[in-house]
Amino acid sequence: MENPILDLIHQHASVRRYKPDLVPVAMIEAIVNAGQRASTSSNLQIYSVIAVTDVEKRKSLASLADNQEFITVAPVFLVWCADLARLDRVCQLQETEQVVEYLDNFLLTAMDVCLAAQNAALAAESFGLGMCYIGALRKEARSVIKLLRLPRLVFPLFGMTIGWPEMKSWVKPRLPLKAVLHWEEYDSNQDALLKEYDQTMAATGMYKGRQSPYPGRENEMENYGWMEHTARRVAQGGRKDLREVLVEQGFLLK
Ligand SMILES: Cc1cc2nc3c(=O)[nH]c(=O)nc-3n(C[C@H](O)[C@H](O)[C@H](O)COP(=O)(O)O)c2cc1C
Repeated sequence: MENPILDLIHQHASVRRYKPDLVPVAMIEAIVNAGQRASTSSNLQIYSVIAVTDVEKRKSLASLADNQEFITVAPVFLVWCADLARLDRVCQLQETEQVVEYLDNFLLTAMDVCLAAQNAALAAESFGLGMCYIGALRKEARSVIKLLRLPRLVFPLFGMTIGWPEMKSWVKPRLPLKAVLHWEEYDSNQDALLKEYDQTMAATGMYKGRQSPYPGRENEMENYGWMEHTARRVAQGGRKDLREVLVEQGFLLK
């Protein structure tokens, strides 16, 4: 069965090495425009994208996002933002008041951002461009907000590098379908599938020299696959001041 869209989807691999060649403005517009075609809660369209091409600004964003150097090489950096500010203005013009204080208000805008961003990612890949999401942008969210002059009710969820790939990226295996597709009810009995995937990933060699540190397990490098890597990763905890920053931006998360 020939299906070019499925082919494109299955070729996805994050790109972290880019040529410095520019991406035409019309292409950036077409990419974000494809994002706009995604489904959006009640047609609210509660997201905004800041396209950053200025090299100094990209350098600043790279240093805020864990010093990920390739952000300065990729010619375009899209900052995907939750945005309830536009609707605040709509309500002002229509003489009503937007309710924004609940967690669901933030979830709605965050979901809208993700759907649009992934549409845009595929559009970029359809042009032969490479992309990589940058979640590390939330590490220094306050500084990102300041740098991009994001108003109240706008929050940067993640970035996305876009540019011409320097080389073809390797397509990372995913979990067996059975581990994520449950029929009729949730099936917790996944150990065999997890171990199968663990071995698939270990066999790729991708973790060689890339083991996450974990106290007391410095010498346990054998049998290091997706399970150990992931268990160490999620044992590190997350960004602890995010709620405070969201509240400062007007998302009260009640
Ligand atoms: C929300 C989100 C944030 C991410 N943040 C980063 C990041 O800061 N740096 C990075 O190199 N990759 C980042 N990634 C890319 C993931 O590491 C990558 O998608 C994952 O390892 C699967 O690899 P693949 O995209 O090549 O299939 C992010 C992905 C997502 C979805």
